[in-house]
Amino acid sequence: MIYLTGMRPSKRLDGKVIWITGASSGIGEALAYALRARGARLVLSARRLDRLNDVRERCGGEGVSLLPLDVASGEPAAPIVRAAAAAFGSIDVLVNNAGVSQRSRAVETDPAVVRSIMSTNFFGPVWLSTELVRYWRERRSAGQIVVVTSAVGKLATPLRSAYSASKHAAHGYFNALRAEVARDGIGVLLVVPGYVRTEISFAALNGDGTRHGVLDPGQARGIRPADAAERIARAIESGKKEISVGLDVRTSVALALAWLAPPLLRKALERARVT
Ligand SMILES: NC(=O)c1ccc[n+]([C@@H]2O[C@H](COP(=O)([O-])OP(=O)(O)OC[C@H]3O[C@@H](n4cnc5c(N)ncnc54)[C@H](OP(=O)(O)O)[C@@H]3O)[C@@H](O)[C@H]2O)c1
Repeated sequence: MIYLTGMRPSKRLDGKVIWITGASSGIGEALAYALRARGARLVLSARRLDRLNDVRERCGGEGVSLLPLDVASGEPAAPIVRAAAAAFGSIDVLVNNAGVSQRSRAVETDPAVVRSIMSTNFFGPVWLSTELVRYWRERRSAGQIVVVTSAVGKLATPLRSAYSASKHAAHGYFNALRAEVARDGIGVLLVVPGYVRTEISFAALNGDGTRHGVLDPGQARGIRPADAAERIARAIESGKKEISVGLDVRTSVALALAWLAPPLLRKALERARVT
């Protein structure tokens, strides 16, 4: 890996064990490279083992363990957390990054699709994170929980009803959890992406559960996953509570309106053409 003088990443995460879900593509994959470059040891999870193998190879092979996982499976979390910790003897940071988006109107969305989106984006991170807190408490240790949410966790836009609900739920839940675990020395970082150029729109679910299969203009204009990953890695190093990455002007204005003039935002969203 080549760094320009003065740009070499700091080594505050050197030797730390970081578990990333959704590490087979996009932000999670880029984060694996950014954290490995800082000397972190990685446990990488996702459903596609072939893609995880590619990521491990690109990380140089060493210091990277794979734990194939469907975060939406609803299986008991305790054995999964134990398996993740067994790779290097502990877990210092869990990055709940796995996620699936939506491209369908609410009334045209099968309830099973709503449940699947909630399971991946909300229940999965909840089960893994709370089990990890229990694991840390039993061992009188602590660490950091990172959750990759979305600007749509603060706004609610058309074609994203279940996705938006899952990300709003994540904000509420993990802000509450942060307050509860602060005295254990456990930190919670919420990462709020706007647009990052990844496969997220390809894998987004239509109302019948099929894949959207298209690179949406928002994602096409988004920032590079590597740039998002650098910001996230620095936020983990410095123990931040919340950061946003890849917010474009339109999303920034919408977020400002959500605070300052909600009726104006509601009107704009009723007329908005969303892809
Ligand atoms: N890109 C953006 O503009 C944007 C904007 C806002 C928020 N986000 C959030 O950023 C996070 C990362 O998304 P991305 O943009 O990097 O998209 P991506 O390239 O599609 O990555 C999504 C990752 O999640 C994994 N995943 C999906 N369902 C899973 C499941 N049930 N179990 C385990 N892993 C699962 C996928 O791996 P497998 O398919 O191999 O399981 C993949 O590694 C998501 O939470 C997303 O909501 C992204």
